[in-house]
Amino acid sequence: MSVHKSSELKRVTTHRLIEMKQRGEKIAMLTAYDYSMAKIVDSSGIDVILVGDSASNVMAGHETTLPMSLEEMIYHATSVIRAVKRAFVVVDMPFGTYQGNSRLALASAIRIMKESGAHAVKMEGGAEIKESIERVLSAGIPVMGHLGLTPQSIYKFGTYTVRAKEEAEAQKLLEDAQMLEQCGCFGLVVEKIPASLGKKLAETVKIPVIGIGAGGHVDGQVLVVHDMLGITNEFRPRFLRRYADLHGIMTQAFSQYIEDVKSRNFPNESESYE
Ligand code: KIV
Repeated sequence: MSVHKSSELKRVTTHRLIEMKQRGEKIAMLTAYDYSMAKIVDSSGIDVILVGDSASNVMAGHETTLPMSLEEMIYHATSVIRAVKRAFVVVDMPFGTYQGNSRLALASAIRIMKESGAHAVKMEGGAEIKESIERVLSAGIPVMGHLGLTPQSIYKFGTYTVRAKEEAEAQKLLEDAQMLEQCGCFGLVVEKIPASLGKKLAETVKIPVIGIGAGGHVDGQVLVVHDMLGITNEFRPRFLRRYADLHGIMTQAFSQYIEDVKSRNFPNESESYE
């Protein structure tokens, strides 16, 4: 199995993602919510960009993802799409725009696709949202599932701890994943489950399984970009690997700027017009 960075400028498609799973090439996915970040993430060679409703936490400062509106998701998605040349862009359908009403789900997904130019949508849940998933798929809109810890159901779970440790929940998760595959989803995200279950899941379904806190045997990994860059320095779950300490670097830069302004060091002559 060869490990290489897929950075050549050929657009990533659902077909290509499934091929990557077939040949054992891991899929790299990150979130982005704005033009500037999406441009850097895309040009680095990422395969999939998720315009996640985690924007609710990291962009808007809410405690949960529940307050996010369809309009806000479309705004973030539109900004990301303007920047992206290569990655496949998936947009989260926000809480309240698809659960329990498949017509609403279709209308919401169509708005996301038409108004932002996104390539696919993601929905949280299994059997309970099957009808919504099927209706959205029937319009030719690619759908990604999301199982395990589903943050839009946080008040049902009551905690952000690891899911599916018990046999019954693990079995339901496997059945839900098979259902998503049979419906025609092109992939799924699985969040905070035991690594052994992640492995079994990736071996059970043919569609790519992208993990966040699901161990190393799934078909790809996703992280929230602000977390992996160390911007959100108080969030430290076990699954999170920090690739930078931007909180430290930014604080240092801001402090230096403040000092330079106060001490009249900035701007100097070369930074001023004649
Ligand atoms: O909203 C999000 O960022 C997500 C990831 C955690 C997978 O759904």
